[in-house]
Amino acid sequence: MHTKLVFVIVALVLMGLGACSQQGREVKTRVIAHRGASGYLPEHTLEAYAAAYFMGADMIEPDVVSTRDRVLICFHDVYLEKVTDVESRFPDRRRADGHWYAIDFDYAELAGLTVTGRGDVAWDGFHIPTFDQFLSLIGRLNEQTGRSVWVVPEIKQPIFHKREGVDVTRMTIDALLRHRWDESRVIIQCFDDETLISLHGEYGERYQLLQLFSKVEDVPPLEDIGGYAWGIGPSRKVIDADPSVVRRAQALGMRVVPYTFRDEPEELREYVETHGVDAVFTDYADRTIRVMQELR
Ligand code: G3P
Ligand code: CA
Repeated sequence: MHTKLVFVIVALVLMGLGACSQQGREVKTRVIAHRGASGYLPEHTLEAYAAAYFMGADMIEPDVVSTRDRVLICFHDVYLEKVTDVESRFPDRRRADGHWYAIDFDYAELAGLTVTGRGDVAWDGFHIPTFDQFLSLIGRLNEQTGRSVWVVPEIKQPIFHKREGVDVTRMTIDALLRHRWDESRVIIQCFDDETLISLHGEYGERYQLLQLFSKVEDVPPLEDIGGYAWGIGPSRKVIDADPSVVRRAQALGMRVVPYTFRDEPEELREYVETHGVDAVFTDYADRTIRVMQELR
């Protein structure tokens, strides 16, 4: 099916659902659409972002990586083969380690790839968007709907990019500035603490910074993170192992935003009601919003 047609259908069909899901919402836990509506559609595509928008997500997450010609694209990995047809399209462009890296291609080449997705179904008609296209999309939808959906870009592998001669952090900030994106509606996330410390040093409180981690031992102590970050984004297993991390971080003035929820209403209720998290990353914004409504 033609991509634009899919886009229009998804947006129109879900518009009604989004409108309903916004009525009377009072639960304060924010819903971040992880890689767009990635539970339904190929992740990090404009269609998945638009679908999440009209489901009523408060915030939408793109991961960002760079191409060879310094275009920031929305993509989860620095290599391409897991979710695209790059292997069949460019069989000779694999590195010795077996990966096809985005940084070895110009955007014009990547734009022609199909994002087939991670599930059992190989989708057709979906493509890799640029971060500029993502910002334009959410910005225009905000203008048209009067809503104020935030963007939550994750800077992927800044150390890898630096080794390749690319400052992916600078590119992310430049794009936000180019789009005159309201800084109060941006959360910049990264696993690399040095990247966030450096961003805080340059911009102070201008951008809200989220320190991601999958293991507590990978990051500085919470007290130190509180010196530069707006919040922490631990994996769920971190909170499962030690739920006190939520209250301890909040006592230091930080928000707590665990990743990632699939279709798990019981677990979600526990994180919201018992642990008191401030926001959640979810692949199913619509179902997560429904749970939040039930908790009102
Ligand atoms: O950014 C939160 C979460 O998305 C981090 O995990 O691997 O899905 O980017 P990942
Ligand atoms: Ca991410």
